[in-house]
Amino acid sequence: MHNDLHSIKEAVREEADKALSLQDIQDLKVRYLGKKGLLTAKLKSLGSIPREQRPEYGSLLNETKKYIEALLDKQEGIFKSVELSKSLQSQQIDVTVPGCFTPWGHLHPITKVLDEIVGIFISLGFTVEEGPEVELDFYNFEALNFPKDHPARDMQDTFFISDDVVLRTHTSSVQVRTMEKNTPPLRVIAPGKVYRCDADVTHIPMFHQLEGFMVDKHIRMSDLKGVLQLFIHRVFGRETSVRFRPSFFPFTEPSAEIDISCVICKGSGCNVCKGTGWLEILGAGMINPRVYEMAGYNPDLYTGFAFGMGIERVAMLKYGIDDIRLFPENDKRFLEQF
Ligand code: PHE
Repeated sequence: MHNDLHSIKEAVREEADKALSLQDIQDLKVRYLGKKGLLTAKLKSLGSIPREQRPEYGSLLNETKKYIEALLDKQEGIFKSVELSKSLQSQQIDVTVPGCFTPWGHLHPITKVLDEIVGIFISLGFTVEEGPEVELDFYNFEALNFPKDHPARDMQDTFFISDDVVLRTHTSSVQVRTMEKNTPPLRVIAPGKVYRCDADVTHIPMFHQLEGFMVDKHIRMSDLKGVLQLFIHRVFGRETSVRFRPSFFPFTEPSAEIDISCVICKGSGCNVCKGTGWLEILGAGMINPRVYEMAGYNPDLYTGFAFGMGIERVAMLKYGIDDIRLFPENDKRFLEQF
């Protein structure tokens, strides 16, 4: 019996010496020490051995088991460290290899300009309102003092959905909607998409506008000038001159078109400003008392100003883009430049 255990030890040692891989060692462990292993079987059969021989044989058996465990653990450790260093070597990272370029997306130029403009007005205490793009004739026209069949409606080439529903032609539609829900003081901007049936190098059927208006007691045209001048200086630089030119909108009185000195030639005259030195940038004016009546405000109590600008127009001037149709085209060669 003792010889028996001795030869098991020998056999394990020989086999362990011949092992070529971690797997071989692990197989040996199973064969000798596993649940159905040779030594385990011997331990189980201890009961069938004559009682007086059991203690000696038992302790010998234990000793053999420990010996084999230690032997195989040691071999296992050696194979593991060899495998580890092999895998570390094969996984070595060459930090000098150039990386793969992953292109980053970025905001559309219109979104960038819109965000910048919204940020400027928020810093002045304006809050942002939004209105529907499919709008009632009432908010787009009627409440803004465009009487039905009035020629002023020709200023805007309207897409009609039905007799009293239109795609809004301007963000001025948000003025009366906001006034109905709030009482002055109001300091509001309303950015969004607007629609006009028009298409050439400076017009597309869907474009973006930003409306701004301020209503309170004692608001004067000089407030309008101050706000717009500050805004223009922030977007186009402090050296930009601003001029107000008389104009007409049914919902403002007096009305003005606001020009800035040409961003290209700085006012000396070029083909962008058609030799005038000036570029039209927005429409504005003092809100017509008729609009307050439509909104249910007392026109004797409140005054205010409104202005509206085309975002594409601002973006074109800011970046020197000469065709508005490039914005919705989504040609990456164009978009990647921003
Ligand atoms: N809504 C006008 C337009 O689209 C711009 C404007 C807004 C003019 C507010 C005056 C006041 O042309």
